[in-house]
Amino acid sequence: MTTALAAPLTRQPAGSPWPASARSGPHGELLIAGVGLAEAADRFGTPLYVLDEQEVRDRARSYRAALPGAEVLYAAKAFLSSAMADWVGQEGLGLDVCSAGELRLAVAAGFPPQRILLHGNAKSPEELRLALRLRVGRIVVDSLAEIPRLAALTVAESPQPVLVRVLPEVPAGHHEGVRTGVAGQKFGFPIEGGDAAEAVRRVLGQPGLRLTGLHCHLGSQITDVEPYLTAVDRLAGLLAAIRDRHGVELPELDLGGGHGVRYRPGDPELDLADFARRVPARLAAACGRHGLAVPRLLVEPGRAVAAPAGVAVYRVLTVKHGSDGRVFAAVDGGMSDNPRPALYGARYTVRLVGRASAAALREVEVVGRHCEAGDVLVRGALLPTDLRPGDLLAVPAAGAYQLSMASGYNLVGRPAVAAVDRGRARLLIRRESVEDFRAREVGR
Ligand code: LLP
Repeated sequence: MTTALAAPLTRQPAGSPWPASARSGPHGELLIAGVGLAEAADRFGTPLYVLDEQEVRDRARSYRAALPGAEVLYAAKAFLSSAMADWVGQEGLGLDVCSAGELRLAVAAGFPPQRILLHGNAKSPEELRLALRLRVGRIVVDSLAEIPRLAALTVAESPQPVLVRVLPEVPAGHHEGVRTGVAGQKFGFPIEGGDAAEAVRRVLGQPGLRLTGLHCHLGSQITDVEPYLTAVDRLAGLLAAIRDRHGVELPELDLGGGHGVRYRPGDPELDLADFARRVPARLAAACGRHGLAVPRLLVEPGRAVAAPAGVAVYRVLTVKHGSDGRVFAAVDGGMSDNPRPALYGARYTVRLVGRASAAALREVEVVGRHCEAGDVLVRGALLPTDLRPGDLLAVPAAGAYQLSMASGYNLVGRPAVAAVDRGRARLLIRRESVEDFRAREVGR
């Protein structure tokens, strides 16, 4: 599918949350990778998630280029499909998975298990067995109980590489629900009080496990490099303590993900170049102070690879004027395809696509179609006063933690996903239908 336009197309301004390929056309159209969103909506229906393949690939490549000495693993929880696994794999990234589902899908898509790292605070015995059978590259140990469980399934002749997840006590992240680098939440081992040291001791005592390093994940949507520097100092201190106590220097340090992106024009984002300049330098300095060999750095960005490549397209179903003067535009999706506003109070921007409007702008609550008053997608959006049913609305930065957290609420069905690349669109995932729901029913 191509959109031929005679008039010039305009780029988005600097600081825009839209994919780099986004161009505004003359009739209110917005093109992503040369594909008009209105045309894609007509072809595939709405709500529709459009993924810009080159944006994903470019972002993956930027990580590799910025951090040539590091291993970059895409965090599949942000969004995973076979195409996504292909794109990041072909660009040289590894994969961080946190369930048998993500692991199986990636391996079925042909992703090399050696380049996969398995996370999880509650891995089931089946998940551990599967990971070992597939010979995943690394497993991140998150609880003491997991150590003997893993050890019982491994042998000294071919030990499983593992990392120990620790809590560096660095609070960071956009919402309390995603701050995972501090005590008082379910992940990892506190350094303070000795839990992390004890986990390390137990792993080192298992001949079937090979401890390759430490892991931490501070939180998500972090836009400042500073918290990572503090974490590096604390983890380097622990590496030194491990060397002093056990005589081993661990060769890897995984700083997790959490790199923040822009959701609205002018939002701050994590500066990758700044991260790449300061984090490895700080690691080298800290290791120098402790007389340690510098471990290989691992990073696990999810959102920063996937979010900016995605655009959600909705159709307006009704426009309602509330008694308090508020205007509600209800669309055909909502909290079932994007639970982030309801869960975290996440703020988005939105624009009309597919027709030009010269009407004045006014504040509109863009709400979903679900049976909850809290089903608000975009609060206080600025949209034309002539907004009407049938119009299309597009939301940028939709590539991460929307589809992957989508639900079947109200049996609406999860949206279709299309990839766009060089003027062409192709369907990656079809819309979920009531037949899909019915197909799972096996009794009554
Ligand atoms: N590594 C680990 C161990 C993680 O737990 C996560 C995310 C990542 C890497 C990737 O983080 P990212 O670079 O994508 O921020 N649903 C929330 C985000 C939850 C993140 C969970 N862990 C949201 O929509 O904001």
